[in-house]
Amino acid sequence: MTRRLLVTAALPYANGPIHIGHLVEYLQTDIWVRFQKLRSHRCLYICADDTHGTAIMIRARKEGRSELDLIGEMSESHQRDFAGFGIEFDNYGSTHSDENRKICGEFWQALRSENLVTERTVEQLFDPEAETFLADRFVRGTCPKCGRTDQAGDNCTCGHTYNPTDLIDPVSTLSGATPVLRESAHLFVELEKLHGFLNQWVSESGALQSETANYLKGHFLAEELRDWDVSRPSPYFGFEIPDSPGNYWYVWFDAPIGYIASTQQWCDRNGEKLEDWWKSDECEVHHFIGKDITYFHTLFWPGMLKTAGYSLPTKVHIHGFLNVNGTKMSKRDGTLVKAETFLKHIDPAALRYFYASKLSSRVEDLDLSLTEFVDKVNSDLVGKVVNLASRVGKFAGRTGLSDTYPDDGGLFKKAAEAGDAIAEAYEQCEYARAMRLVMELADAANPFVEHAKPWEMKKDPERQDELRDVCTVALNLFRQLAVYLTPVLPSLAKACGELLDDPIVSWDQSQTPLVGRGVNKFKRMMDRVQLENLEKMIEESKEEAAAEAESADSPASQYNDSDQPLKDEPMADEITIDDFMKVDLRVARVVEAEHVPEANKLLKLTLSLGGDETRQVFAGIKAAYEPEKLVGRLVVMVANLKPRKMRFGLSEGMVCASGPGGEEVFILGVDEGAQPGQRVH
Ligand code: MSP
Ligand code: ZN
Repeated sequence: MTRRLLVTAALPYANGPIHIGHLVEYLQTDIWVRFQKLRSHRCLYICADDTHGTAIMIRARKEGRSELDLIGEMSESHQRDFAGFGIEFDNYGSTHSDENRKICGEFWQALRSENLVTERTVEQLFDPEAETFLADRFVRGTCPKCGRTDQAGDNCTCGHTYNPTDLIDPVSTLSGATPVLRESAHLFVELEKLHGFLNQWVSESGALQSETANYLKGHFLAEELRDWDVSRPSPYFGFEIPDSPGNYWYVWFDAPIGYIASTQQWCDRNGEKLEDWWKSDECEVHHFIGKDITYFHTLFWPGMLKTAGYSLPTKVHIHGFLNVNGTKMSKRDGTLVKAETFLKHIDPAALRYFYASKLSSRVEDLDLSLTEFVDKVNSDLVGKVVNLASRVGKFAGRTGLSDTYPDDGGLFKKAAEAGDAIAEAYEQCEYARAMRLVMELADAANPFVEHAKPWEMKKDPERQDELRDVCTVALNLFRQLAVYLTPVLPSLAKACGELLDDPIVSWDQSQTPLVGRGVNKFKRMMDRVQLENLEKMIEESKEEAAAEAESADSPASQYNDSDQPLKDEPMADEITIDDFMKVDLRVARVVEAEHVPEANKLLKLTLSLGGDETRQVFAGIKAAYEPEKLVGRLVVMVANLKPRKMRFGLSEGMVCASGPGGEEVFILGVDEGAQPGQRVH
């Protein structure tokens, strides 16, 4: 039976680049879609950029260009990154499209006619200089409880939580202006009216993993559902609400509708009807999302779909978050790696395989340990799978494949039979299990070649038929693996297809061996991954983050969704005295200090370590110190820090200072009498 499937991945925000965390999702989805297509089902992979909201508007303003210009550039860069990783969409749209505006209007009409929309006045902080209302994260101020200054809009490091309107001396991070309270009318969707429906859908549809269903039942559905604020007053980058001039749909209203609008574009291009994909019982709708956006996809979205008469999701597949080396990705550690940076150093097939080997159907975080990454890719893909082909590849071009499939001790048959279990694992999103099953087959196949020793047969003219048989078995077992791995490794499947002049297009090709034909010249299929290249990638990510921090006026960096509010720094792990002694701290005298044009945070310092020994250091202290006042001062520096190339020149060390940054930086002083060059113990 041929199924019809509409599959989506969440629409990435247009205010930042794609990073390896995002890729968990787009690769997981790509693998599933490729699997369905390989099984000969009709399947569409739909996505788009999520372009609306305050963040985009402010950033465009800061960069002195239009929002359209900004989102156009982001869309290109996102699509380039996805293509680099072999992620193939049937349509990649934008929430800022005519199709989306039209379908949003349709949803809105439906909500209105079901009497689900209500209007209320909302009091919110407003930035009179930037002329915009401020979301919590754009306000900082003094904690009303403990009096700490410069705290976030909704919570203080003391643990107290509050509304931004409770802050003492609030400041807008957009302009530095003092925000004022202002009232405006907002439109709300009365979700509570859909409570009964949502209860039933969450409990009975089977669309949600049980852990998610239980979470929703225990948290949100146990109480009255709060009205959902779906409008934002002008100025806002988005769609103006047709029957409420001056108000715009909130970004999370039009974003999921973007799934449908992007499908509409595909339909128009291919002469198909939207109803067949979004309003038909014959079509399954699958959403892949990360755990952070569960709420939007499992309550609001089904409520909207139901009201507007579109299909409810057959399944919402929710995945966990990516960690690197056991901790949250961080810009400072260089572990928040951009897709683009990854591609400069590592074969994308390696990441596709690694994620597949880690993913299950559960909402669990996954870890990318760099050493495990290297081990797994090299031992599984290079050592087991590709090895099977490369060991006979150079002889097979001469021998070709035998006319009948030789006796292989039942290996091919067994691997053909394993196909169902592997397919079931893919279907269930249990990719880790699928990869284990495939590697078991590879483990069984490799000894066949090892025992047969084709490299010895090659020299013996009497044994050429035998050699052809060994090549036939090895290449057919390899091809089976390549078919099973096609969803994960389309590039390997392609190479296999070229070697045997038989492109892999269907799962069924794993069931019958190829015989009686020639074999093309063998080409290298995959190289080992080098840890060294991963380290270079991390290093480059660190440099990018440092350069960004310098070039951005501080607030701009706050629009990146990965930035975290400043928290108290936890104590580092215990070290020995030897560890400490590795850090060569020296007394140094500042002999020159100057501004760096173009760098908003940096001063360029020349430090003397006594005699002729000097170091050039770029220090992020511009907001706190005037250069003239530093000259002549003694400071403490890290003298053996690996020099770092920055846009402005080489930085050869670090000046010790405390404080959170910005204007609050405090350089460590040294008492009179100490000499430049002396070591600090
Ligand atoms: N724009 C919204 C989605 C709208 S869908 C109608 C959004 N965008 S996002 O760019 O922040 O994230 C896109 C997807 O990537 C989300 O599903 C999110 O969960 C996922 N991930 C972002 N960072 C991630 C990790 N570190 N790890 C795994 N997935 C991550 O949310
Ligand atoms: Zn406090």
